Amino acid sequence: MRGHRNGGSQCILDSISLQVREGEIAGLVGESGSGKSMLGSAIGGLQPMNCKITEGRILWRDRDLRGADEALLSALRGSQIAYIFQEPMTALNPTLSIGRQLVDVIRRHTEPDSSSARHRALKLLADVRIDSPEDVFNAWPYQLSGGMRQRVLIAMAFSCTPALIVADEPTTALDVTVQAKVLTLLLTLARERRTAVLLISHDIGVIRRACETVHVMYAGRIVERGSTTAVLAAPRHPYTRALLDCLPGRARPKSRLKTLSTSMQTMPGCCFRARCHLAFQQCSEVPPLADISSGDAAACWLTQQDQLKGELF
Ligand SMILES: Nc1ncnc2c1ncn2[C@@H]1O[C@H](COP(=O)(O)OP(=O)(O)OP(=O)(O)O)[C@@H](O)[C@H]1O
Ligand code: SF4
Ligand SMILES: [Mg+2]
Repeated sequence: MRGHRNGGSQCILDSISLQVREGEIAGLVGESGSGKSMLGSAIGGLQPMNCKITEGRILWRDRDLRGADEALLSALRGSQIAYIFQEPMTALNPTLSIGRQLVDVIRRHTEPDSSSARHRALKLLADVRIDSPEDVFNAWPYQLSGGMRQRVLIAMAFSCTPALIVADEPTTALDVTVQAKVLTLLLTLARERRTAVLLISHDIGVIRRACETVHVMYAGRIVERGSTTAVLAAPRHPYTRALLDCLPGRARPKSRLKTLSTSMQTMPGCCFRARCHLAFQQCSEVPPLADISSGDAAACWLTQQDQLKGELF
């Protein structure tokens, strides 16, 4: 994907390969600016107008959505692919009551009859553990707390029984005490309904708790992917290792917390080369995302050399 602005163009996503299976909870993690939201939004055709996908395919059940017209994408969004964004206040319309917004979504995609849509909206509010669904149905967005608004957006996302929910930092804007409850709710509903979730987060703790598989992004590329347990227990890519080393729980008592030196910048070859203390000559070429073991893969020359040695000896 390329972004065009101020007369120039910049590569935002490159050589992306990401698959989410039916009912899977998959994680996408990486630091700010790595391209997580761009990737999540591109799935449903929601990337900004000045960003164009120039190559590749976005396969939705054998159908290529790249270049699909807005009518098809808009029919898919809400009915098969739903989104939950970070900031619940901006995702809700402040000029309409909660009930009206829920009923509108339900009527657009499933129940044209307004009284059954109302009934379904109240049931959904109860499903997201809202104690007084009638009160929230009649409330305006500004009258609800951040946690309640995010519950409403979760209800909206599930309203048309989608097959995939793209949840982009769904708990980041919430108070820490509410974050865990909202995440648990989202995961419980997804597992009960066998809904696949692509959970985007910069927080490895969230990914560890929630996801069966994880994709690690750096500078617009997937640099490592695999089962969450395997990747977090034995990360193969130096960037994944550095991310894990920065977790507060890993620091020895009274020692300084580790941080990644310098900011994300790219140079020709491996996208992590400018910050990688292991870089060597071959890193001036782009390493492919190569399979390491059953479904796990990393884009690092060193890992691939070690793998080869392991196979030879
Ligand atoms: N409208 C745009 N036009 C061109 N480039 C953009 C546009 N929006 C974002 N970008 C660039 O795309 C890159 C990826 O941005 P993105 O928002 O996907 O990152 P992110 O990983 O979601 O970060 P965060 O964790 O802060 O949400 C950034 O380098 C950003 O500068
Ligand atoms: S390919 Fe080279 S620069 Fe890139 S992560 Fe591996 S060792 Fe570091
Ligand atoms: Mg983002």
